[in-house]
Amino acid sequence: MKISVIGAGYVGLTTAACLAEIGHSVRCADNDEAKLNMLRNGQMPFFEPHLEEVLSRNCKAGRLQFESPVSAVTGAEAIFICVGTPPLDNGEADLSAVANVARTIAQYTTGYCLVIEKSTVPVQTGQQLKRHLQLYARNELRCDLVSNPEFLREGSAIHDFFHPDRIVIGVEREEVATQLREIYRPILEQTFQCPVHAECTHTQKPAWIVTDTNSSELIKHASNSFLAMKISFINMVADLCEAVGADVTKVALGMGMDPRIGPAFLNPGIGFGGFCFPKDVQAFVRIASQAGCDFSLLKEVENINKRRVAHVVEKVRKELWVIRGRKIAVWGLAFKPNTDDVRFAPAIELLHALVHEGATVSAYDPQATEKARAVFPDARYCASPYEAARDAEAILIVTEWEEFRQIDWQRLRAVVDRPLIFDGRNTLDATELTRHGFHYISVGRPPVMSESTGSGEGTPASSPVEGERVADAR
Ligand SMILES: NC(=O)c1ccc[n+]([C@@H]2O[C@H](COP(=O)([O-])OP(=O)(O)OC[C@H]3O[C@@H](n4cnc5c(N)ncnc54)[C@H](O)[C@@H]3O)[C@@H](O)[C@H]2O)c1
Repeated sequence: MKISVIGAGYVGLTTAACLAEIGHSVRCADNDEAKLNMLRNGQMPFFEPHLEEVLSRNCKAGRLQFESPVSAVTGAEAIFICVGTPPLDNGEADLSAVANVARTIAQYTTGYCLVIEKSTVPVQTGQQLKRHLQLYARNELRCDLVSNPEFLREGSAIHDFFHPDRIVIGVEREEVATQLREIYRPILEQTFQCPVHAECTHTQKPAWIVTDTNSSELIKHASNSFLAMKISFINMVADLCEAVGADVTKVALGMGMDPRIGPAFLNPGIGFGGFCFPKDVQAFVRIASQAGCDFSLLKEVENINKRRVAHVVEKVRKELWVIRGRKIAVWGLAFKPNTDDVRFAPAIELLHALVHEGATVSAYDPQATEKARAVFPDARYCASPYEAARDAEAILIVTEWEEFRQIDWQRLRAVVDRPLIFDGRNTLDATELTRHGFHYISVGRPPVMSESTGSGEGTPASSPVEGERVADAR
C-alpha cells in the first residue's frame, strides 16, 4: 500500500520506519526542511533505540523516502497524521498543525485515500477534521477518516510498535476497518522478525479494537490520564510513607499483587513528564470541562505532580541546610531513560529551581545533554557522571538510566565533596551505596546513613530486588 506519514517526530518517524519494515512503501514528510535533510543524509534528529538501523535498512531497500508534505500526500492511499499537538497556555491541545496537514491533504490528494489520525487529539477532532477536509478540497474529496491513537513509549518505541497490547481503530464505516487491518496484518498476526528480536520475548498477538472515532479518541486521553493518576497516587502514598516511616516499595509491592491494581506505574518519584502525560491530562480536563463535566480528580493529579520538584528541593534543603553556593550534581535530564526527550522533563524544572536558589549545578545525561542545554543553558553540562559529581555536596538522580546502576561507587566516592545521594527514582541499591560510604535518600522510604557515619534512621530503604521493582514507563 502507498502510505504517507506526516510529521517526522518520535511517533511519525517510528511509524514510517516500522510500516516500511513490514513491507509497505512509505513516504515520510515534515514541514521542517532541516529535519528532512538530516534524514535524507542518514542522520538522526533524535535518539530512539533501534530506530536508526530500521530507518537505514528501509531507506536502502527503497521502501522509505523523505519528502515535503505536498509531495507525500499526492497519490497516497493512506495518510497517517503524526504531527505534534502541544498544549496551549490554557491547557487545550493546539491543533493548528493537524489543521494545516488537513488543508494540505484536501488540496493535494489525488483519488481515494484513508486519512488516519495518529496524533493525540481531543474527542470530536475527527469530525472537525472531516469538515475541514471537505471545506478546503479543490476537487471532490474521496476519503475516509480513521482515528488510530498511538500508545508507543519513547525509549522502546520500535518494540512497542511491533508488539502493541492493542490496536485501536475508530471508524465511521465498518469496511474502513478492513483496510486498516490490511495495513497492520503482519503486526496483528505477528508474522515478521522483530527488529529488536535479541531483547524480545513477546509472543502475544495484539487485541484489535474497532470502535467509533469519538470513543477511539477518548481511549487515548483516558488511558494516559489514568496512568498519570496512578503515578500521582503512588507519589502521595510515598509522601505519607516518608511522614510515618513506612516503605513505599513494600506498600507498592503489596498493592500491585492485586490483579485489579497491577504492579505497573507504582514506582514513586519526582513526577511524570514528557510530551504525553502532562499535556494529555491538561487537555482531558479541558475537554471534560467544555462538555460540562468537572474532572476535578484529574486537576488534583496535575497539582500533585506540580509539587514533586519542590518536594525534592525541600528534601535537599533539609539535608544541606542552605542551597545557595552549594555544588549539586544532577544525573539524568531526559524525562525517562532511553530517550533524549526533555520536553516537560522534571529534570529541567529541577535545574531551574536549584539555579534559582543559588546552587551551582553540574548535569549529566547519557543522551539528552544537548537538548537540555538548548532549553536551559545555565548549568554546567558534563561528559560523564563522575565529572558532574566532582566536588559535589549532593548528587540528585532524576532519570533511572541503567548506567547509574553500573557506577563504580568507590571511584565516585573519591571525587565528591560529600557522599550524599538523593535517588529521585528509587533506582539504586541502598545497601551497596551505604557500604561505599554514601548517605542515601530515596522517595517514600527511610533514609539510610553510610556505614562509616552511623546506623540508618529507622528501617533501611529496600534495595530494588529483581521481580520486586514496580515497572514505571512514563
Ligand atoms: N512522543 C510520544 O511518546 C507519543 C506517544 C503517543 C502519542 N504521541 C502523540 O503523537 C503526536 C506526535 O508526537 P511526537 O512526540 O512525535 O511529536 P514531535 O514534536 O516529535 O513530532 C512532530 C513533528 O511534526 C512536524 N510538523 C508539525 N507541523 C507540521 C506540518 N504542518 N506538516 C508536516 N509536519 C509538521 C514537526 O516538525 C515535528 O517533526 C502528538 O499528538 C503526541 O501527543 C506521542
